[in-house]
Amino acid sequence: MPQFKEDLSAGLKAGMRRLAASVCVISLRDTQGERHVMTATAVTSLSDNPPALLVCVNKGATAYDALQNRQPFCVSILHQSQQDISALCAGLTDSDDRFSQGTWQDNDSIPYLGDAQANFFCKTDNVVEYGSHIIAIGKLTEVYTADGEVEPLLYADGKYGQLPN
Ligand SMILES: Cc1cc2nc3c(=O)[nH]c(=O)nc-3n(C[C@H](O)[C@H](O)[C@H](O)COP(=O)(O)O)c2cc1C
Repeated sequence: MPQFKEDLSAGLKAGMRRLAASVCVISLRDTQGERHVMTATAVTSLSDNPPALLVCVNKGATAYDALQNRQPFCVSILHQSQQDISALCAGLTDSDDRFSQGTWQDNDSIPYLGDAQANFFCKTDNVVEYGSHIIAIGKLTEVYTADGEVEPLLYADGKYGQLPN
């Protein structure tokens, strides 16, 4: 069994490849009104009272400044058919227009993906810096959920997947 004691960063990455997660996108506007969106799996429900979630975002991400400035944001859970949006919003394609795919709409100036599995609109309640990342705590202001089957896009071991039918 591979063990990591010196290079714990490699150990974290190797171990986390075995944690399956639903793929989300975090979208928001900066103080100038420009839209930003990024793919993220480090999204967790945090509290029931008040209803809140948290997202962990690398300080190097283009959305970082807007999150740090506590701009309101949306977390959209991608549908299993939205693998292309995941790649696009992670900057892994040639396109630099991350809003060119999917049904993007605005709710109170917050951009959100209308055809996602769920949209969580958040007001930033706190931002905690930790190492290379920030944890943004979002207090929910509104939630939209999709009709129909629960069909999230999954990610594990560097590959996309879906729930069995
Ligand atoms: C499946 C997947 C999950 C990701 N999860 C996160 C995450 O939780 N937090 C994060 O900071 N970056 C995450 N990333 C990387 C960011 O999406 C990527 O670095 C970012 O969009 C780069 O964009 P930028 O050009 O805006 O900096 C993930 C990428 C992929 C493909």
